[in-house]
Amino acid sequence: MSDKLETAGLDETSFKSIAELAYKESGLQLVAEKMSMIQSRLRHRLKAVGIDSFPKYAQFVCSDNGISERREMISALTTNVSHFFREQHHFDILQTKVLPAKIDVLRKGGRFRVWSAGCSNGQEAYSIAMASLDSYPELSQLDFKILASDIDQKVVDFASEGTYPQRLLSGVNQDRLKKYFTECRDGNESSFQAKSLIKSTIAFKELNLLSDWPMKQQMDVIFCRNVIIYFDAVTQNSLWPRFRKQLKPDGFLFLGHSERISDPDLSGFANQGPTTYRHKNAHEELACKERKCL
Ligand SMILES: C[S@@+](CC[C@H](N)C(=O)[O-])C[C@H]1O[C@@H](n2cnc3c(N)ncnc32)[C@H](O)[C@@H]1O
Repeated sequence: MSDKLETAGLDETSFKSIAELAYKESGLQLVAEKMSMIQSRLRHRLKAVGIDSFPKYAQFVCSDNGISERREMISALTTNVSHFFREQHHFDILQTKVLPAKIDVLRKGGRFRVWSAGCSNGQEAYSIAMASLDSYPELSQLDFKILASDIDQKVVDFASEGTYPQRLLSGVNQDRLKKYFTECRDGNESSFQAKSLIKSTIAFKELNLLSDWPMKQQMDVIFCRNVIIYFDAVTQNSLWPRFRKQLKPDGFLFLGHSERISDPDLSGFANQGPTTYRHKNAHEELACKERKCL
């Protein structure tokens, strides 16, 4: 296949077909204003499948033969930016509020589950593991597990490999780097591989949030941050009751910094601080306890 394959720009009809497909498959909302970004993200897909125009690509990816290309297309269209310890305040809540309330149950053989939903390259899940083990090193021996899932198999594979170039590790302080990672030189650049101490607490899985969720156990905490921002209100509103069902009655849901549950009353969630939500009843009971009326 020639590297010099020339493609004309993304036309409106092809954009519409691709946007409809992306929405149906993954909930991603592609807006016309971002057409040039979408065009540049998809150009290498055309090259990879040897197609020389966007109308032909749109036709192919929407056809029965395009099933595997659909996954590649979604992978190319998703934004995978993430950082270690992004939005630190959620890790503070985990360490100061959530885990202290549950540690006795864990010590008595109970389980604790966290879900990093839309985990991208794994920084969120490893940050959860590090923060938790910093507070309670014994967690590695207890029934403490993190599920890290994403629609994009490529990022799930990267996350489960757990090797990060130094430039991606700026959020990890030296103590943590030493304790939880092993340095491995790769040419001129240093890379760091997550040790099994944190890796063994995480299960990685490809999972589309719009599909059925196979998890039988309810979660103590759900991190779904900087994911639903790419969804429209209809898709977001379809997710709240599902998250609520998947979350233990006293569990916590953390969203990204620019994400909100627009109607907490309808969703069954109550706001408990910036981008932090709990089941409405749990929130009311807690508020009541704080007012000493229980
Ligand atoms: C910007 S990253 C967020 C990573 C991490 N949660 C954070 O806050 O740093 C968004 C991730 O959501 C994933 N995503 C998008 N649509 C999804 C869907 N329908 N189901 C599951 N994951 C999805 C993307 O593949 C991407 O890795």
